[in-house]
Amino acid sequence: MTSADSDALFEDLLSSAARLSFDARDPAIFAGAEHDDRSHGMSPRWSPLYDTAAWRALPPAQQVLLTRAEVAQFLGIAIWLELLLQSALLRRHVDADPARPDTRFLLHECADENMHSLMFVNAVAGIGARFHRRDFSFTVFGWLFRYVAWREAVYGLVLAGEEIFDVMQRDWMADPEVAAAVRQTSYIHVVEESRHMQFARRNIRDQLAGRSRLRRRVCALIIAIGTHVIGKSLINRRVYEDLGLDWRSVRRAIDGNEHHRMMFRRAAEPLMDFLSREELLDRGSRWIYRKSNLL
Ligand SMILES: [Fe+2]
Ligand SMILES: [Fe+2]
Repeated sequence: MTSADSDALFEDLLSSAARLSFDARDPAIFAGAEHDDRSHGMSPRWSPLYDTAAWRALPPAQQVLLTRAEVAQFLGIAIWLELLLQSALLRRHVDADPARPDTRFLLHECADENMHSLMFVNAVAGIGARFHRRDFSFTVFGWLFRYVAWREAVYGLVLAGEEIFDVMQRDWMADPEVAAAVRQTSYIHVVEESRHMQFARRNIRDQLAGRSRLRRRVCALIIAIGTHVIGKSLINRRVYEDLGLDWRSVRRAIDGNEHHRMMFRRAAEPLMDFLSREELLDRGSRWIYRKSNLL
């Protein structure tokens, strides 16, 4: 059951979605996004290698190929999260009243997410990049997320992914150095995800209301571990090996890159603010976020 207050918010989100939504199948999304060889896949400052000797050693054309390959990895993770959140949340709503505003908004959110995934696939193809296989450990995490996590923890991880991408994509959508296909998809994603984030925040609050301190602490821990996994998944050795770079030196460069750590902390800032307000940032989870360069 949701409260009257929450129902009113979900109705508002539904009318906002009716007013402003996009269709990824509409070719107009990519109008003007013609291929050129100079545009980056994402703002270079978001490359985990940016500002390192390894980055500076690359000629500009190689830097462009690198940010394109990296954005394909990032968007591949966005698609993975979009599929995971649908399978995790839909199975928890199978028996819910479909007329309830939260069920209706969830159906709307899933429709958005499928469009986003299609849009990202098209954007990655548009910049001539490709997706790479993930390590098996991420598949195991995905299974746990889908079947084991409590509903508030699922919404917590959904929110973590959405908040982190929101910060990055706000940069990409306004950066003239970024390929038009990525700028346009980033804009659409930022607009539509702002509703999803409100939905997730309210669901977390509703689900945690009246729960024990222990449940809140375990939930904080699950969200921290999941967010750590999301952060890790953004960097895939296959992306760098595919470009002919030596993974061991790339990893050393990324691990020692203070600029990259600073960008990751910036990406996680709004999430940390929310978690702290909701008392989901205790000693244990803080330690994990620090280890993952997210705090
Ligand atoms: Fe999305
Ligand atoms: Fe979303």
